[in-house]
Amino acid sequence: MHRLAVFGNPVAHSLSPQIHQMFAVEAGIDVAYEKVLVPLGEFRAVADDFFNRGGTGINITVPFKRDAFSFVDLLADGARDAGAVNTILRSPNGLLKGENTDGVGLVSDLQDNLGWTLAGKSILLLGAGGAVQGVIRDILHAGPKSITVANRTASKAQELAERFKDNRISSSPLNELLGAYDIVISGSSAGLSKNSQPLSLSSTLLGSYTCCYDMIYGKTTPFQDWSSSLPTAQRADGLGMLVEQAARAFELWFDVEVDGESVLERLRKRLKFLGSES
Ligand code: ATR
Repeated sequence: MHRLAVFGNPVAHSLSPQIHQMFAVEAGIDVAYEKVLVPLGEFRAVADDFFNRGGTGINITVPFKRDAFSFVDLLADGARDAGAVNTILRSPNGLLKGENTDGVGLVSDLQDNLGWTLAGKSILLLGAGGAVQGVIRDILHAGPKSITVANRTASKAQELAERFKDNRISSSPLNELLGAYDIVISGSSAGLSKNSQPLSLSSTLLGSYTCCYDMIYGKTTPFQDWSSSLPTAQRADGLGMLVEQAARAFELWFDVEVDGESVLERLRKRLKFLGSES
């Protein structure tokens, strides 16, 4: 029996145990996957204890992805670029390795599940926090024509864009964006806290050919309200990204391939989330 867990705070809402159990059944691997509510400031102690007692691997969610980054012995390149770790596994020499599967999970969902092509496209990323930093490397690998990082605090978008040293990336303050994009991806936390200010975006960013993706799922956000009020090609929430990042984590732990799309379909039937709409 392999022990797995998701570490977060809060963590009660996490769908990771359900998702990983579905992968485990598909792969014929015996796993016990638990949710661990980690007290703030205690990530290292709880993670040390988990691995000392023979745990196979953990997923990390808010707010511990930076703590996990500092905790591991080794970092995969993707985790280094993301500045965050969402998956920890034991490497063959016993050292704990940090990976980040968020970006590759997002790209799998966009391209494989939704059928949106990234190559040659203009992509607008809204926000410049950890969620956006975590996916830039993998979006770049998919070959877009351009990536514009736009953020309310313009200096954060500029810093983030410059960090990747790639002439396809530029940055912009949110209120100075011009023209329409092929794909708009929101990594903004607008609407997540009770007192958050409204997200103010110009309708000119969307054309009838634009695909809109919100990394958030299970909640109607200001970005979803805004994009659904305008004519667009397709819209999707982030449930597929959650499933696909989990698929990539499962594959890293067990060196098997699993099918995220069928798990996503079953999960959508159980839940009543927006999903994708055209
Ligand atoms: P995460 O790590 O989940 O990305 P974060 O680092 O707090 O969370 O980043 C949240 C992002 O949402 C930031 O880019 C934030 O913009 P600022 O850098 O200007 O704070 C963005 N955001 C949150 N509320 C917003 C709002 N009402 N309008 C525009 N952007 C907003």
